[in-house]
Amino acid sequence: MDVREVRDYGELSRAAAALLLEWVADFSSPSIVLPTGNTPLGCYAALAADPRARALTGARLIQLDEYHGIARDDPRNLAEWLMRALLRPLAIPAARLQRFDSSAGNAAAEAARMEEIVEAIGIDVAILGLGPNGHIGFNEPGSIFDSPTRLIELTPESIRSNAAYWGEGRVPPFAFSLGLGTLARARRTLLLVSGERKADILAETLNGPISPTVPATYLRALSGAVVIADQLALRKWRGGRG
Ligand code: GLP
Repeated sequence: MDVREVRDYGELSRAAAALLLEWVADFSSPSIVLPTGNTPLGCYAALAADPRARALTGARLIQLDEYHGIARDDPRNLAEWLMRALLRPLAIPAARLQRFDSSAGNAAAEAARMEEIVEAIGIDVAILGLGPNGHIGFNEPGSIFDSPTRLIELTPESIRSNAAYWGEGRVPPFAFSLGLGTLARARRTLLLVSGERKADILAETLNGPISPTVPATYLRALSGAVVIADQLALRKWRGGRG
């Protein structure tokens, strides 16, 4: 895997925005998978400040993951998070975002609908974050590498870590995620990792056995995935290399 070390979060955010703009320049109407979480926020802010990012107004955006069982206007709704963090600042019309319906009654049908859309559009660029337990999107440990888009029961660890955004007892127990098999078809993939609390799981992702136990290791089975990580996140990995 192509691991690019940057000094800190600011540098990570600028490097991610620059690489995304470089990649999308190869496509006339690029389709881009977008994560939420805190890690990509600096990249989104860097894009909002960069006039070249106007190229993204013609992009087709695809939501990586979403909670299930909450209203579309619930503050926890992750599509709304993306709207606030990226689409509105860049004046990208809401209709450009392919989003999960967090309030869907029939979750299996909703997951299948998104899978079909992604299949039809294709993924030119996937931007991803790393869960503290190695999840990608909400593909929790145990997710097989050819898993499709589906509804997933969150692990207690993910519920705990996501409580940092919403508060204890406020994290929905189920979520939709594009599958690892779905994401594996992306033409280009970029994983963003920042901070010391990700150091252990990033070292496992980069050096440990390739296995569904750490879903992010599917990235090593792809050709050409890029990781941009800051020094704190890469601390254990560097130690591992001696
Ligand atoms: C959440 C999201 C993921 C995200 C991850 C990391 O659980 N479902 O898509 O990438 O956590 O979040 P953060 O960037 O805040 O560490």
